[in-house]
Amino acid sequence: MDRINIIGAGLSGLSAALTLSYSGISCNLISLQPSERAQSVLAEGGINAALDTMGENDCIENHFNDTIHGGADMADPNAVDGLTRNAPAILYWLEHLGVPFNRKNGKIVLRNFGGQKKKRTAYAKSSTGKMMMTSLTDEARKYEAKGLITRYPHHEFIRLLLDNSGKNCLGVRVKDTYSGELIDFFGTVLLASGGINGVFPHMTTGTTQNSGDVTATVFSQGVRAGNLEMIQYHPTTYGISGKRCLLTEAARGEGGRLYVIRNGEPWYFMEEKYPELKNLMPRDVVSREIYFVRRSDDCENTVYLDMRELPEDTWKHKLSDLREEIIKYLSLDPKRDPIPIEPGIHYFMGGIDTDENHRTNIGNLYASGECTCQYHGANRLGGNSMLGAIYGGKKAAESILQSGEKESAAEPSFSVCEKDDSDEYAEEASAERIRQIREILLDGLGIVRNENEMQNALARLKRLAADNKLNKREQNRVCLARAMLMSALERKESRGAHYREDYPAKNDDYQKTTTASFENQNIVIRFRELPKRRSCNNENKT
Ligand code: FUM
Repeated sequence: MDRINIIGAGLSGLSAALTLSYSGISCNLISLQPSERAQSVLAEGGINAALDTMGENDCIENHFNDTIHGGADMADPNAVDGLTRNAPAILYWLEHLGVPFNRKNGKIVLRNFGGQKKKRTAYAKSSTGKMMMTSLTDEARKYEAKGLITRYPHHEFIRLLLDNSGKNCLGVRVKDTYSGELIDFFGTVLLASGGINGVFPHMTTGTTQNSGDVTATVFSQGVRAGNLEMIQYHPTTYGISGKRCLLTEAARGEGGRLYVIRNGEPWYFMEEKYPELKNLMPRDVVSREIYFVRRSDDCENTVYLDMRELPEDTWKHKLSDLREEIIKYLSLDPKRDPIPIEPGIHYFMGGIDTDENHRTNIGNLYASGECTCQYHGANRLGGNSMLGAIYGGKKAAESILQSGEKESAAEPSFSVCEKDDSDEYAEEASAERIRQIREILLDGLGIVRNENEMQNALARLKRLAADNKLNKREQNRVCLARAMLMSALERKESRGAHYREDYPAKNDDYQKTTTASFENQNIVIRFRELPKRRSCNNENKT
Protein backbone atom coordinates (compact mmCIF):
# COMPACT_ATOMS: atom_id res chain seq x y z
CA MET A 1 0.00 0.00 0.00
CA ASP A 2 1.28 3.49 -0.84
CA ARG A 3 1.98 6.01 1.88
CA ILE A 4 -1.27 7.47 3.13
CA ASN A 5 -1.50 11.27 3.07
CA ILE A 6 -3.13 12.73 6.16
CA ILE A 7 -4.03 16.41 6.09
CA GLY A 8 -4.11 17.73 9.65
CA ALA A 9 -1.96 16.84 12.66
CA GLY A 10 -4.46 17.36 15.48
CA LEU A 11 -6.13 14.59 17.48
CA SER A 12 -7.81 12.99 14.50
CA GLY A 13 -4.79 13.09 12.21
CA LEU A 14 -2.50 11.75 14.93
CA SER A 15 -4.92 9.01 15.86
CA ALA A 16 -5.12 7.92 12.21
CA ALA A 17 -1.33 8.09 11.80
CA LEU A 18 -0.80 5.92 14.89
CA THR A 19 -3.43 3.39 13.84
CA LEU A 20 -1.68 3.02 10.48
CA SER A 21 1.73 2.81 12.18
CA TYR A 22 0.58 0.06 14.52
CA SER A 23 -0.18 -1.96 11.35
CA GLY A 24 3.17 -1.13 9.79
CA ILE A 25 1.68 1.22 7.16
CA SER A 26 3.45 4.49 6.57
CA CYS A 27 1.93 7.91 6.21
CA ASN A 28 2.69 11.55 5.55
CA LEU A 29 1.30 13.81 8.26
CA ILE A 30 0.84 17.12 6.49
CA SER A 31 -0.31 20.21 8.35
CA LEU A 32 -0.19 23.98 8.26
CA GLN A 33 1.06 24.05 11.85
CA PRO A 34 2.81 21.34 13.89
CA SER A 35 0.71 19.18 16.22
CA GLU A 36 1.76 21.30 19.18
CA ARG A 37 -0.23 24.19 17.69
CA ALA A 38 -3.29 22.28 16.52
CA GLN A 39 -6.78 23.34 17.53
CA SER A 40 -7.06 20.16 19.64
CA VAL A 41 -4.59 21.68 22.11
CA LEU A 42 -7.25 24.25 23.03
CA ALA A 43 -9.84 21.68 24.10
CA GLU A 44 -10.49 22.07 27.79
CA GLY A 45 -13.19 20.20 29.61
CA GLY A 46 -12.72 16.50 28.93
CA ILE A 47 -13.52 13.35 26.98
CA ASN A 48 -16.50 11.07 27.45
CA ALA A 49 -16.56 7.34 28.12
CA ALA A 50 -18.92 5.23 30.21
CA LEU A 51 -16.12 4.06 32.50
CA ASP A 52 -18.24 3.79 35.61
CA THR A 53 -15.11 4.08 37.76
CA MET A 54 -16.87 5.42 40.84
CA GLY A 55 -20.10 3.43 40.78
CA GLU A 56 -21.97 5.96 38.63
CA ASN A 57 -24.04 3.05 37.32
CA ASP A 58 -23.25 4.11 33.80
CA CYS A 59 -23.10 1.94 30.69
CA ILE A 60 -22.47 2.29 26.97
CA GLU A 61 -26.18 2.32 26.21
CA ASN A 62 -26.57 5.43 28.40
CA HIS A 63 -23.74 7.16 26.54
CA PHE A 64 -25.35 6.15 23.24
CA ASN A 65 -28.77 7.44 24.28
CA ASP A 66 -27.45 10.76 25.60
CA THR A 67 -25.45 11.31 22.39
CA ILE A 68 -28.42 10.54 20.13
CA HIS A 69 -30.81 12.59 22.26
CA GLY A 70 -28.34 15.51 22.60
CA GLY A 71 -27.91 15.45 18.80
CA ALA A 72 -31.72 15.84 18.45
CA ASP A 73 -32.09 12.37 16.88
CA MET A 74 -30.13 13.30 13.80
CA ALA A 75 -26.86 11.38 14.21
CA ASP A 76 -26.16 8.10 12.40
CA PRO A 77 -27.00 5.53 15.12
CA ASN A 78 -24.49 2.98 13.86
CA ALA A 79 -21.68 5.52 13.91
CA VAL A 80 -22.69 6.59 17.43
CA ASP A 81 -22.87 2.95 18.47
CA GLY A 82 -19.23 2.48 17.38
CA LEU A 83 -18.19 5.74 19.02
CA THR A 84 -19.70 5.00 22.41
CA ARG A 85 -18.79 1.30 22.41
CA ASN A 86 -15.12 2.07 21.71
CA ALA A 87 -14.87 5.00 24.12
CA PRO A 88 -13.69 3.04 27.18
CA ALA A 89 -10.88 1.33 25.22
CA ILE A 90 -9.81 4.72 23.84
CA LEU A 91 -9.67 6.18 27.35
CA TYR A 92 -7.53 3.31 28.61
CA TRP A 93 -5.24 3.65 25.60
CA LEU A 94 -4.82 7.36 26.39
CA GLU A 95 -4.14 6.51 30.02
CA HIS A 96 -1.55 3.97 28.89
CA LEU A 97 0.13 6.68 26.77
CA GLY A 98 0.45 8.80 29.87
CA VAL A 99 -2.39 11.32 29.75
CA PRO A 100 -2.54 12.64 33.35
CA PHE A 101 -6.27 12.27 33.93
CA ASN A 102 -7.47 13.44 37.33
CA ARG A 103 -7.72 10.45 39.62
CA LYS A 104 -8.91 9.35 43.00
CA ASN A 105 -7.55 6.22 44.67
CA GLY A 106 -5.84 5.40 41.39
CA LYS A 107 -9.06 5.48 39.36
CA ILE A 108 -9.98 8.03 36.68
CA VAL A 109 -12.43 10.57 38.10
CA LEU A 110 -15.38 11.56 35.91
CA ARG A 111 -17.19 14.89 35.93
CA ASN A 112 -20.65 16.03 34.92
CA PHE A 113 -20.97 17.58 31.48
CA GLY A 114 -23.87 19.02 29.50
CA GLY A 115 -26.69 16.80 28.27
CA GLN A 116 -25.48 13.71 30.14
CA LYS A 117 -27.35 12.04 32.94
CA LYS A 118 -24.26 10.37 34.41
CA LYS A 119 -20.77 11.51 35.29
CA ARG A 120 -18.91 10.42 32.19
CA THR A 121 -16.27 13.01 31.33
CA ALA A 122 -12.63 12.20 32.09
CA TYR A 123 -10.39 15.24 32.39
CA ALA A 124 -6.96 16.60 33.13
CA LYS A 125 -7.95 19.69 35.11
CA SER A 126 -9.26 21.95 32.35
CA SER A 127 -6.38 21.40 29.94
CA THR A 128 -7.43 17.98 28.70
CA GLY A 129 -6.74 18.65 25.01
CA LYS A 130 -3.23 19.90 25.69
CA MET A 131 -2.42 16.83 27.79
CA MET A 132 -3.82 14.41 25.22
CA MET A 133 -1.98 16.09 22.36
CA THR A 134 1.29 15.95 24.29
CA SER A 135 0.94 12.21 24.82
CA LEU A 136 -0.13 11.44 21.26
CA THR A 137 2.63 13.59 19.78
CA ASP A 138 5.18 11.73 21.92
CA GLU A 139 3.78 8.42 20.76
CA ALA A 140 3.95 9.57 17.12
CA ARG A 141 7.64 10.40 17.52
CA LYS A 142 8.42 6.71 18.11
CA TYR A 143 6.95 5.86 14.72
CA GLU A 144 8.57 8.85 13.12
CA ALA A 145 11.90 7.40 14.22
CA LYS A 146 10.95 4.10 12.57
CA GLY A 147 10.14 5.91 9.32
CA LEU A 148 6.45 5.09 9.45
CA ILE A 149 5.28 8.65 10.07
CA THR A 150 6.83 11.49 8.10
CA ARG A 151 5.76 14.89 9.35
CA TYR A 152 5.34 17.85 7.04
CA PRO A 153 4.47 20.79 9.30
CA HIS A 154 4.16 24.23 7.69
CA HIS A 155 2.68 22.68 4.57
CA GLU A 156 -0.62 24.09 3.42
CA PHE A 157 -3.31 22.09 1.65
CA ILE A 158 -3.93 23.57 -1.79
CA ARG A 159 -6.27 21.14 -3.52
CA LEU A 160 -7.06 17.52 -4.21
CA LEU A 161 -5.64 15.85 -7.30
CA LEU A 162 -8.57 14.14 -8.97
CA ASP A 163 -8.74 11.86 -11.99
CA ASN A 164 -10.46 12.97 -15.20
CA SER A 165 -13.84 11.73 -14.04
CA GLY A 166 -13.51 13.89 -10.91
CA LYS A 167 -14.71 10.90 -8.91
CA ASN A 168 -11.39 9.48 -7.69
CA CYS A 169 -8.69 11.07 -5.64
CA LEU A 170 -5.15 10.53 -6.86
CA GLY A 171 -3.43 12.61 -4.19
CA VAL A 172 -3.08 16.10 -2.86
CA ARG A 173 -1.22 19.28 -3.76
CA VAL A 174 0.33 21.18 -0.85
CA LYS A 175 2.52 24.23 -0.50
CA ASP A 176 5.64 24.40 1.65
CA THR A 177 4.91 27.70 3.39
CA TYR A 178 8.63 28.37 3.97
CA SER A 179 9.98 27.74 0.47
CA GLY A 180 6.78 28.38 -1.47
CA GLU A 181 7.29 25.11 -3.36
CA LEU A 182 4.21 23.23 -4.49
CA ILE A 183 4.39 19.49 -3.85
CA ASP A 184 2.08 16.79 -5.19
CA PHE A 185 1.72 13.78 -2.90
CA PHE A 186 0.17 10.75 -4.58
CA GLY A 187 -1.97 8.10 -2.94
CA THR A 188 -4.95 7.86 -0.62
CA VAL A 189 -5.88 11.05 1.23
CA LEU A 190 -7.45 11.43 4.66
CA LEU A 191 -8.70 14.92 5.48
CA ALA A 192 -8.53 15.68 9.21
CA SER A 193 -8.33 19.41 8.77
CA GLY A 194 -10.63 20.62 11.56
CA GLY A 195 -13.63 22.92 11.70
CA ILE A 196 -14.32 25.94 9.52
CA ASN A 197 -13.44 28.51 12.17
CA GLY A 198 -11.90 30.94 9.70
CA VAL A 199 -15.30 31.58 8.17
CA PHE A 200 -16.31 33.17 11.51
CA PRO A 201 -13.24 35.05 12.79
CA HIS A 202 -13.88 37.03 16.00
CA MET A 203 -16.92 34.87 16.78
CA THR A 204 -15.31 31.49 17.34
CA THR A 205 -13.49 29.91 20.26
CA GLY A 206 -11.46 27.90 17.75
CA THR A 207 -8.25 28.83 16.04
CA THR A 208 -8.72 30.60 12.74
CA GLN A 209 -5.67 28.78 11.43
CA ASN A 210 -8.42 26.22 10.68
CA SER A 211 -9.51 28.62 8.00
CA GLY A 212 -12.19 26.49 6.38
CA ASP A 213 -10.27 26.66 3.09
CA VAL A 214 -9.81 22.88 2.97
CA THR A 215 -13.52 22.22 3.30
CA ALA A 216 -14.40 25.08 0.93
CA THR A 217 -11.92 23.88 -1.69
CA VAL A 218 -12.88 20.22 -1.63
CA PHE A 219 -16.56 21.18 -1.67
CA SER A 220 -16.01 23.14 -4.86
CA GLN A 221 -14.07 20.15 -6.23
CA GLY A 222 -17.14 17.92 -5.83
CA VAL A 223 -16.81 16.50 -2.31
CA ARG A 224 -20.26 16.27 -0.74
CA ALA A 225 -20.95 18.09 2.55
CA GLY A 226 -23.53 17.28 5.22
CA ASN A 227 -25.51 19.15 7.89
CA LEU A 228 -23.79 22.45 7.13
CA GLU A 229 -26.55 24.37 8.91
CA MET A 230 -25.63 22.83 12.27
CA ILE A 231 -23.33 25.31 14.00
CA GLN A 232 -22.79 25.02 17.74
CA TYR A 233 -22.89 28.12 19.91
CA HIS A 234 -21.17 27.37 23.23
CA PRO A 235 -23.15 29.09 25.99
CA THR A 236 -20.21 30.40 28.01
CA THR A 237 -17.56 32.36 26.17
CA TYR A 238 -16.00 35.76 26.75
CA GLY A 239 -14.36 38.20 24.38
CA ILE A 240 -10.81 39.52 24.45
CA SER A 241 -8.97 41.30 21.67
CA GLY A 242 -11.50 40.42 19.01
CA LYS A 243 -11.50 36.74 19.96
CA ARG A 244 -14.02 34.52 21.76
CA CYS A 245 -12.48 32.50 24.59
CA LEU A 246 -13.99 29.34 25.95
CA LEU A 247 -15.11 29.26 29.54
CA THR A 248 -15.29 25.51 29.85
CA GLU A 249 -18.55 23.69 30.49
CA ALA A 250 -16.60 21.96 33.26
CA ALA A 251 -17.26 25.10 35.31
CA ARG A 252 -20.97 24.25 35.24
CA GLY A 253 -20.18 20.55 35.54
CA GLU A 254 -18.48 21.34 38.84
CA GLY A 255 -21.40 23.46 40.08
CA GLY A 256 -21.24 26.86 38.29
CA ARG A 257 -24.69 28.48 37.85
CA LEU A 258 -26.07 30.85 35.22
CA TYR A 259 -28.12 33.86 36.22
CA VAL A 260 -29.48 37.13 34.91
CA ILE A 261 -30.71 40.12 36.90
CA ARG A 262 -34.50 40.17 36.69
CA ASN A 263 -36.47 42.84 38.51
CA GLY A 264 -33.33 43.67 40.46
CA GLU A 265 -32.73 40.08 41.68
CA PRO A 266 -30.51 37.28 40.36
CA TRP A 267 -32.66 34.77 38.47
CA TYR A 268 -31.10 31.33 38.04
CA PHE A 269 -33.23 30.74 34.97
CA MET A 270 -31.83 27.36 33.86
CA GLU A 271 -32.55 25.85 37.28
CA GLU A 272 -36.13 27.06 37.23
CA LYS A 273 -36.82 26.04 33.65
CA TYR A 274 -35.00 22.69 33.55
CA PRO A 275 -35.12 21.15 37.02
CA GLU A 276 -33.48 17.85 35.98
CA LEU A 277 -30.28 18.93 34.18
CA LYS A 278 -30.45 22.61 35.15
CA ASN A 279 -27.34 24.48 33.94
CA LEU A 280 -26.14 21.36 32.16
CA MET A 281 -28.77 21.10 29.48
CA PRO A 282 -27.30 20.49 26.00
CA ARG A 283 -25.52 23.54 24.59
CA ASP A 284 -28.15 24.41 22.00
CA VAL A 285 -30.76 24.72 24.74
CA VAL A 286 -28.57 26.76 27.10
CA SER A 287 -27.41 29.14 24.37
CA ARG A 288 -30.99 29.70 23.24
CA GLU A 289 -32.17 30.40 26.79
CA ILE A 290 -29.36 32.94 27.21
CA TYR A 291 -30.39 34.55 23.92
CA PHE A 292 -34.02 34.84 25.06
CA VAL A 293 -33.45 36.09 28.63
CA ARG A 294 -31.10 38.78 27.33
CA ARG A 295 -33.90 40.05 25.14
CA SER A 296 -36.63 39.78 27.74
CA ASP A 297 -38.09 43.11 28.95
CA ASP A 298 -37.80 42.35 32.65
CA CYS A 299 -34.18 41.13 32.49
CA GLU A 300 -30.92 43.00 32.20
CA ASN A 301 -28.79 42.33 29.17
CA THR A 302 -25.87 40.52 30.83
CA VAL A 303 -25.85 36.85 31.82
CA TYR A 304 -23.37 35.77 34.48
CA LEU A 305 -21.72 32.50 35.40
CA ASP A 306 -21.64 32.25 39.16
CA MET A 307 -18.84 30.03 40.49
CA ARG A 308 -18.58 31.64 43.90
CA GLU A 309 -19.87 28.61 45.76
CA LEU A 310 -17.45 26.07 44.30
CA PRO A 311 -15.45 24.32 47.00
CA GLU A 312 -11.80 25.22 47.51
CA ASP A 313 -10.80 21.70 46.59
CA THR A 314 -12.44 22.07 43.15
CA TRP A 315 -10.47 25.23 42.42
CA LYS A 316 -7.27 23.62 43.57
CA HIS A 317 -7.45 20.25 41.85
CA LYS A 318 -9.96 20.54 39.03
CA LEU A 319 -10.16 24.11 37.71
CA SER A 320 -6.98 25.87 38.79
CA ASP A 321 -6.00 26.60 35.18
CA LEU A 322 -9.43 28.05 34.43
CA ARG A 323 -9.20 30.42 37.37
CA GLU A 324 -5.76 31.57 36.26
CA GLU A 325 -7.06 32.30 32.77
CA ILE A 326 -10.03 34.32 34.01
CA ILE A 327 -7.87 36.37 36.34
CA LYS A 328 -5.35 36.97 33.58
CA TYR A 329 -7.74 37.83 30.76
CA LEU A 330 -10.70 39.43 32.54
CA SER A 331 -9.13 40.78 35.74
CA LEU A 332 -11.92 39.03 37.65
CA ASP A 333 -11.54 36.29 40.23
CA PRO A 334 -14.24 33.63 39.76
CA LYS A 335 -13.95 32.72 43.44
CA ARG A 336 -15.36 36.15 44.26
CA ASP A 337 -16.81 37.65 41.07
CA PRO A 338 -19.66 36.48 38.83
CA ILE A 339 -18.29 36.23 35.28
CA PRO A 340 -20.20 37.86 32.38
CA ILE A 341 -20.56 35.40 29.51
CA GLU A 342 -22.09 35.25 26.04
CA PRO A 343 -22.59 32.39 23.59
CA GLY A 344 -19.93 32.11 20.88
CA ILE A 345 -19.42 29.77 17.93
CA HIS A 346 -17.55 26.71 19.16
CA TYR A 347 -18.03 23.73 16.88
CA PHE A 348 -19.32 22.68 13.48
CA MET A 349 -21.46 19.57 13.56
CA GLY A 350 -21.59 19.78 9.76
CA GLY A 351 -18.80 19.31 7.28
CA ILE A 352 -17.56 16.76 4.79
CA ASP A 353 -20.16 14.03 4.39
CA THR A 354 -18.84 10.54 5.13
CA ASP A 355 -20.30 7.13 5.66
CA GLU A 356 -19.85 5.26 8.90
CA ASN A 357 -16.41 4.13 7.67
CA HIS A 358 -15.32 7.70 6.97
CA ARG A 359 -15.38 7.34 3.21
CA THR A 360 -16.44 10.40 1.23
CA ASN A 361 -18.28 10.31 -2.09
CA ILE A 362 -14.89 10.48 -3.87
CA GLY A 363 -12.85 7.27 -4.26
CA ASN A 364 -9.64 7.07 -2.14
CA LEU A 365 -10.68 10.11 -0.13
CA TYR A 366 -11.56 9.80 3.56
CA ALA A 367 -12.31 12.40 6.23
CA SER A 368 -12.43 12.43 10.04
CA GLY A 369 -12.62 14.80 12.99
CA GLU A 370 -14.34 18.17 13.06
CA CYS A 371 -14.09 18.65 9.29
CA THR A 372 -16.74 15.93 8.90
CA CYS A 373 -20.41 15.70 9.84
CA GLN A 374 -20.10 12.42 11.70
CA TYR A 375 -21.38 11.46 15.21
CA HIS A 376 -23.00 14.64 16.56
CA GLY A 377 -26.22 15.12 14.59
CA ALA A 378 -27.78 18.51 15.21
CA ASN A 379 -25.86 19.30 18.40
CA ARG A 380 -22.67 17.89 19.90
CA LEU A 381 -22.39 17.00 23.55
CA GLY A 382 -19.43 18.46 25.39
CA GLY A 383 -16.74 15.80 25.81
CA ASN A 384 -17.72 13.99 22.60
CA SER A 385 -15.55 16.07 20.27
CA MET A 386 -12.16 14.74 21.32
CA LEU A 387 -13.68 11.26 21.43
CA GLY A 388 -15.13 11.72 17.91
CA ALA A 389 -11.80 13.03 16.64
CA ILE A 390 -9.79 10.10 18.01
CA TYR A 391 -12.32 7.40 17.20
CA GLY A 392 -12.96 8.91 13.75
CA GLY A 393 -9.24 9.01 12.92
CA LYS A 394 -8.84 5.42 14.06
CA LYS A 395 -11.92 4.26 12.17
CA ALA A 396 -10.86 6.05 8.97
CA ALA A 397 -7.40 4.47 9.19
CA GLU A 398 -8.97 1.04 9.73
CA SER A 399 -11.16 1.56 6.65
CA ILE A 400 -8.10 2.48 4.62
CA LEU A 401 -6.31 -0.63 5.87
CA GLN A 402 -9.30 -2.82 5.10
CA SER A 403 -9.74 -1.39 1.63
CA GLY A 404 -6.32 -2.72 0.70
CA GLU A 405 -6.67 -0.49 -2.35
CA LYS A 406 -3.60 -0.19 -4.47
CA GLU A 407 -4.78 3.05 -5.92
CA SER A 408 -2.46 5.56 -7.38
CA ALA A 409 0.43 3.33 -8.23
CA ALA A 410 1.99 6.45 -9.72
CA GLU A 411 5.70 6.71 -9.01
CA PRO A 412 7.37 8.60 -7.45
CA SER A 413 4.91 9.08 -4.62
CA PHE A 414 5.52 12.80 -4.63
CA SER A 415 6.79 15.40 -7.03
CA VAL A 416 7.80 19.00 -6.59
CA CYS A 417 6.52 21.61 -9.02
CA GLU A 418 9.01 24.34 -8.28
CA LYS A 419 7.08 26.93 -10.18
CA ASP A 420 3.48 26.91 -11.17
CA ASP A 421 2.56 30.40 -12.28
CA SER A 422 -0.86 29.19 -13.29
CA ASP A 423 -1.72 28.11 -9.74
CA GLU A 424 -5.12 29.61 -9.12
CA TYR A 425 -4.80 29.20 -5.35
CA ALA A 426 -1.73 31.43 -5.09
CA GLU A 427 -3.70 34.37 -3.66
CA GLU A 428 -5.10 34.23 -0.11
CA ALA A 429 -8.66 35.33 0.70
CA SER A 430 -8.48 39.05 1.51
CA ALA A 431 -9.28 40.42 4.98
CA GLU A 432 -12.10 42.48 3.50
CA ARG A 433 -13.82 39.48 1.89
CA ILE A 434 -13.39 37.36 5.03
CA ARG A 435 -15.03 40.13 7.08
CA GLN A 436 -17.88 40.52 4.59
CA ILE A 437 -18.63 36.79 4.46
CA ARG A 438 -18.53 36.53 8.25
CA GLU A 439 -20.95 39.40 8.75
CA ILE A 440 -23.37 38.07 6.18
CA LEU A 441 -23.32 34.59 7.69
CA LEU A 442 -23.73 35.85 11.24
CA ASP A 443 -26.81 37.82 10.13
CA GLY A 444 -28.31 34.68 8.64
CA LEU A 445 -27.07 31.89 10.86
CA GLY A 446 -27.38 33.13 14.42
CA ILE A 447 -28.78 31.25 17.40
CA VAL A 448 -32.29 32.15 16.19
CA ARG A 449 -32.97 32.16 12.44
CA ASN A 450 -35.79 32.93 10.03
CA GLU A 451 -36.53 32.76 6.30
CA ASN A 452 -36.24 36.50 5.65
CA GLU A 453 -32.87 36.94 7.26
CA MET A 454 -31.45 33.85 5.61
CA GLN A 455 -32.79 34.81 2.16
CA ASN A 456 -31.41 38.29 2.65
CA ALA A 457 -27.99 36.86 3.59
CA LEU A 458 -28.04 34.59 0.56
CA ALA A 459 -28.86 37.51 -1.73
CA ARG A 460 -25.99 39.54 -0.23
CA LEU A 461 -23.58 36.66 -0.88
CA LYS A 462 -24.72 36.49 -4.50
CA ARG A 463 -24.20 40.24 -4.87
CA LEU A 464 -20.79 39.98 -3.26
CA ALA A 465 -19.81 37.38 -5.83
CA ALA A 466 -21.34 39.33 -8.74
CA ASP A 467 -19.94 42.77 -7.84
CA ASN A 468 -16.36 41.79 -7.13
CA LYS A 469 -13.61 39.95 -8.84
CA LEU A 470 -13.08 37.19 -6.31
CA ASN A 471 -9.96 35.06 -6.31
CA LYS A 472 -10.31 31.29 -6.25
CA ARG A 473 -10.17 30.95 -2.47
CA GLU A 474 -12.75 33.69 -2.02
CA GLN A 475 -15.03 32.05 -4.57
CA ASN A 476 -14.74 28.77 -2.72
CA ARG A 477 -15.57 30.39 0.61
CA VAL A 478 -18.61 32.12 -0.87
CA CYS A 479 -19.70 28.83 -2.39
CA LEU A 480 -19.45 27.07 1.00
CA ALA A 481 -21.21 29.95 2.74
CA ARG A 482 -24.06 29.76 0.24
CA ALA A 483 -24.33 26.02 0.81
CA MET A 484 -24.58 26.65 4.57
CA LEU A 485 -27.42 29.11 4.11
CA MET A 486 -29.21 26.99 1.54
CA SER A 487 -29.02 23.96 3.84
CA ALA A 488 -30.51 26.04 6.66
CA LEU A 489 -33.26 27.39 4.39
CA GLU A 490 -34.26 23.91 3.24
CA ARG A 491 -34.58 22.62 6.81
CA LYS A 492 -37.99 24.05 7.61
CA GLU A 493 -38.09 23.01 11.24
CA SER A 494 -36.19 23.59 14.49
CA ARG A 495 -33.81 20.87 15.60
CA GLY A 496 -30.74 21.05 17.82
CA ALA A 497 -28.57 24.03 16.95
CA HIS A 498 -30.84 24.99 14.04
CA TYR A 499 -33.65 27.05 15.61
CA ARG A 500 -36.10 28.85 13.32
CA GLU A 501 -38.61 31.25 14.80
CA ASP A 502 -40.78 30.73 11.71
CA TYR A 503 -40.74 26.92 12.21
CA PRO A 504 -40.22 26.58 15.97
CA ALA A 505 -41.17 22.89 16.22
CA LYS A 506 -39.23 19.74 15.41
CA ASN A 507 -40.75 17.99 12.38
CA ASP A 508 -40.17 14.25 11.88
CA ASP A 509 -40.10 14.72 8.11
CA TYR A 510 -36.70 16.35 8.58
CA GLN A 511 -35.10 13.69 10.74
CA LYS A 512 -32.56 13.29 7.96
CA THR A 513 -29.05 14.31 6.95
CA THR A 514 -28.94 17.46 4.84
CA THR A 515 -26.46 17.05 2.01
CA ALA A 516 -24.96 19.77 -0.16
CA SER A 517 -23.14 19.15 -3.44
CA PHE A 518 -21.58 21.38 -6.03
CA GLU A 519 -22.73 19.97 -9.36
CA ASN A 520 -22.22 21.67 -12.73
CA GLN A 521 -21.52 24.98 -10.98
CA ASN A 522 -24.76 24.73 -8.96
CA ILE A 523 -25.26 24.00 -5.28
CA VAL A 524 -27.75 21.18 -4.81
CA ILE A 525 -29.32 20.45 -1.41
CA ARG A 526 -30.88 17.07 -0.72
CA PHE A 527 -32.01 15.11 2.32
CA ARG A 528 -30.83 11.57 3.06
CA GLU A 529 -32.63 9.10 5.31
CA LEU A 530 -30.79 8.04 8.45
CA PRO A 531 -29.86 4.36 8.65
CA LYS A 532 -31.54 2.12 11.20
CA ARG A 533 -29.41 0.95 14.10
CA ARG A 534 -28.01 -2.50 13.38
CA SER A 535 -27.33 -3.80 16.86
CA CYS A 536 -28.61 -2.93 20.26
CA ASN A 537 -26.98 -4.71 23.15
CA ASN A 538 -28.36 -3.28 26.35
CA GLU A 539 -26.27 -5.67 28.40
CA ASN A 540 -23.04 -4.16 27.13
CA LYS A 541 -21.60 -2.60 30.27
CA THR A 542 -18.06 -1.40 30.59
O1 FUM B 1 -16.61 23.48 27.49
C1 FUM B 1 -15.71 22.75 27.14
O2 FUM B 1 -14.77 22.43 27.86
C2 FUM B 1 -15.77 22.21 25.81
C3 FUM B 1 -15.66 20.92 25.62
C4 FUM B 1 -16.06 20.35 24.33
O3 FUM B 1 -16.44 21.12 23.43
O4 FUM B 1 -16.09 19.13 24.19
